[in-house]
Amino acid sequence: VQDTTLAGDVRHYLSQAPRQLPSRALYDTLGSLLFDAICELPWYPLTRAERRLLQMHRRAIFESAQQPRRLIELGPGNGSKLTQLLAEPSVSHHVRQVDLVDVSASALREAARRLQETFAGSIVTHEARYEDGLRKAASTDRTAGRKMVLFLGSNIGNFDLPGATTFLRGVCDTLGAGDALLIGADLVKPEHELQLAYDDPLGVTAAFNLNLLLHLNIALGATFDVAAFSHKAVWNATESRVEMHLVSRREQVVDIPAAGLSITLRKDETIWTESSYKYTPQAFEHLLNTAGLTAIQSWFDAEGRFLLVLAGAR
Ligand code: TRP
Repeated sequence: VQDTTLAGDVRHYLSQAPRQLPSRALYDTLGSLLFDAICELPWYPLTRAERRLLQMHRRAIFESAQQPRRLIELGPGNGSKLTQLLAEPSVSHHVRQVDLVDVSASALREAARRLQETFAGSIVTHEARYEDGLRKAASTDRTAGRKMVLFLGSNIGNFDLPGATTFLRGVCDTLGAGDALLIGADLVKPEHELQLAYDDPLGVTAAFNLNLLLHLNIALGATFDVAAFSHKAVWNATESRVEMHLVSRREQVVDIPAAGLSITLRKDETIWTESSYKYTPQAFEHLLNTAGLTAIQSWFDAEGRFLLVLAGAR
């Protein structure tokens, strides 16, 4: 079965100079599992910091959001954060419906399964990209009452600045009066910490990045020799982002029949798979404002490495 959308994206990105691949292709079944493993790594503090913030402040967050009836999470992964939020009785008591939007069918299944164990309200899953899924979730609003959109894990950091602004404007457009967005952002930190977070000694992050090629071999009949690539993460201070690349260790020809593509990669040529932008609190507030949002309340973790913001439409 050929995913024409994925094939189209691969064709587009791989033909750019320098070559790229669409980062959503990182999240097939194995990719989602490897990402869950990344979140448990001692060198990847992002998830733990965010979990702690949610644990400590979930009641305050929910009160500031004025007790929404609906929660819509974009990119819930395995659903552990939403489960944590709903484990607070004052939260689960009010929430009637949860919508999950993710490109990974296996992640959606796992998130829904987890939530069902503790949450009695309705759970609706949308196997879609953020924009399409949010539009659908917001338009099928059958329950009266406020909603809160959750965009956690610093997933906003995977957009460049114009992309993040456009994306957040779209989110903002779906927010009515009294609705809120809960968004997490990873903050700028020392380079060696960022380096380890995106290139860990166990090689889990490398496996996660390399699995993108395996995924394309399976989904599109591509002929990437996975063993002939290495993972590379670089901190680009000027752009304030970590860049993830796959480096071709030798010259090689790769066919991607489903994308109608045959390419020759030079030795040491790189394919750029993902960027993770890191913000200062000021820069993040500026981004929100540019997108028509305004911060209602912010929470920093104890080490000042991560930021959680509850925002509303201005
Ligand atoms: N949203 C995650 C982040 O930016 C995604 C991620 C973590 C990632 N590690 C990665 C993407 C390694 C590509 C390669 O932190």
